[in-house]
Amino acid sequence: MKRIGVYTSGGDAPGMNACVRAVVRTGIYNGLEIKGIKRGYEGMISNNIIDLDRQSVANIIQRGGTFLKTARSEAFMTKEGRAKAFENIKNHEIDALVCIGGNGSYTGAKIFYEEYGIPCVGLPGTIDNDLYGTDFTIGYDTAINTALDSIDKIRDTAHSHERVFIVEVMGRNSGFIALDVAIAGGAEGVLIPEDLGDWDKVLNHFNNPRKRKKSFSIIVVAEGDEQGGALILEKKLTAMYPDLKIRSTILGHVQRGGSPSARDRILASRLGSEAIHALLQGEQAVTVGIVSDKVVYTPFNQAIEGKKSVSENLIKLAEILAI
Ligand code: F6P
Repeated sequence: MKRIGVYTSGGDAPGMNACVRAVVRTGIYNGLEIKGIKRGYEGMISNNIIDLDRQSVANIIQRGGTFLKTARSEAFMTKEGRAKAFENIKNHEIDALVCIGGNGSYTGAKIFYEEYGIPCVGLPGTIDNDLYGTDFTIGYDTAINTALDSIDKIRDTAHSHERVFIVEVMGRNSGFIALDVAIAGGAEGVLIPEDLGDWDKVLNHFNNPRKRKKSFSIIVVAEGDEQGGALILEKKLTAMYPDLKIRSTILGHVQRGGSPSARDRILASRLGSEAIHALLQGEQAVTVGIVSDKVVYTPFNQAIEGKKSVSENLIKLAEILAI
């Protein structure tokens, strides 16, 4: 193995740059050449592939986003798209790939490996933390701190106006971000797709006469919750409790930006470096994660199909602390 291609794919996440830097520098340290594939699978298809040396990744460890850029590629879902991508990979004499992204990106890498036999290591890069095979994903720590910072600010105005605020956070179909920021932000309620009894807990909160004396509340809702997003909940609660003064805030893509936290930079650096070690050890189609501080390889199939669960203990904790 002489030459490795690295790309970021799917939603960007703070720490992706630190991860690419670690791939490049560990690769060069081990005598490899590294190519950067821009815009994920889109760049693989359109031949947007550049040389990366140790200098090209200087001064990026602290930057959010991904300097390689990213995309969600529909063309790569087609056989023709992948054939074109393979032709470009072959022309650049790339022997193996490092894919930094989420579940959809892993799926693309797995199919590409099955069709063309290009070894690929997947690294968990998403703010959602919803990937099996690692305790934390790159970007998650920064995203929850960003969301928490906003919740603290909302708390100031909620308190001043004696209002109820519904804060919607990202997370696609999972509630990791919502649950963590609800606990850290002292929310009175949290709605996540994994807890089907959470709506009753929120209603209990407003029906409880002792609690109603409280002049303001914050309810955090995960965008993927089955009750709907913040605006739907605002309508429902307003219809049920016309006396409450309710406002909604959708935090949205602000959660994807910003300088990565120390935790994310360290995680990204470790994983980027371990991806090179995995390839040098002959791994072909695995993800690399860190579980209980140990590096873990998970076959693509398992990583894609496996479900990472939110902690029942944290769900209970959020309920207890909101009494
Ligand atoms: O997967 C990361 C994420 O930010 C999710 O939390 C969110 O549902 C989705 O991406 C939004 O995707 P897009 O930026 O393509 O609208």
